[in-house]
Amino acid sequence: MDKAAREFEFSDKHFARISSFVTAQTGILLPAAKKDMVYSRLSKHVRRNYGGSFDAFCLAVDNGDPDTIELLINAITTNLTAFFREKHHFDYLKQHVLPELLIKNQATKKIRIWSAGCSTGEEPYSLAICLHQFFKGHPGWDVKVLATDLDANVLEQAASGIYTIERVSQFSEDEKHAWFSRGKAENNGLVKVKSFLKEFISFRRLNLLHPFPMKGTFDVIFCRNVIIYFDKTTQVGLFHRFAEKMLPGGYLFIGHSETLFNISNQFVSDGNTIYRRIT
Ligand SMILES: C[S@@+](CC[C@H](N)C(=O)[O-])C[C@H]1O[C@@H](n2cnc3c(N)ncnc32)[C@H](O)[C@@H]1O
Repeated sequence: MDKAAREFEFSDKHFARISSFVTAQTGILLPAAKKDMVYSRLSKHVRRNYGGSFDAFCLAVDNGDPDTIELLINAITTNLTAFFREKHHFDYLKQHVLPELLIKNQATKKIRIWSAGCSTGEEPYSLAICLHQFFKGHPGWDVKVLATDLDANVLEQAASGIYTIERVSQFSEDEKHAWFSRGKAENNGLVKVKSFLKEFISFRRLNLLHPFPMKGTFDVIFCRNVIIYFDKTTQVGLFHRFAEKMLPGGYLFIGHSETLFNISNQFVSDGNTIYRRIT
């Protein structure tokens, strides 16, 4: 987008201030090629709340105004996701990981899974569906998913469990009926995840760059399609801290375009973007 096509003045200096703030706060890199994206995601907010002035917007960021910072972070994160995205991960979980944990964790009958960077919730709900399917044959287990994200807007949507019917179009009628309630009257066209699936999940706001407040360890961590936006140093630090939150043999699932090669030697590949924490 050339300068003339923009409604508001958005200089390289504005962009530099915004991108350095975002990277420091979230780890998300915003190289020069993202300037148009940043403008298009922020301009409607700048029109509505800052009188069309990126100077005013940047000043509010510099002054640490919490509403402006939240708006900025929510606008910049990329939240693309889907139910059973990268389906092979969920197949692997059901066929290999859960049967193994059934034996390994027999003494505690407890399993903890973390969906780190859960976006609008499709990933943790897909996990809950797998857990429901698997554990209905194994009663008495305490199985929980922690779902976290930095973006307050997506987290609110995730916790509501409400989706448009198009988002669940991949499921058969029987599956939809089993897992979702259909909205009526003004909620026509919407579905809501049933409460027995929601009960597996706790949603929490968490910036992956900040210390992890959770006690205990996780048997499985899904952190998929999150680190692609981070620089290498941030990735190295994050996977080191994930390793500290797992016992040896714990499983880590990352996104299809991500790798731990040259990033971490605390995990060994199990193939297909699935890793295990080494001893
Ligand atoms: C593309 S979505 C991935 C969603 C899901 N994991 C998947 O693969 O379908 C990336 C998510 O990471 C979140 N994210 C980005 N930086 C983060 C950070 N520093 N801390 C926590 N979440 C972050 C974004 O808000 C976004 O919802």
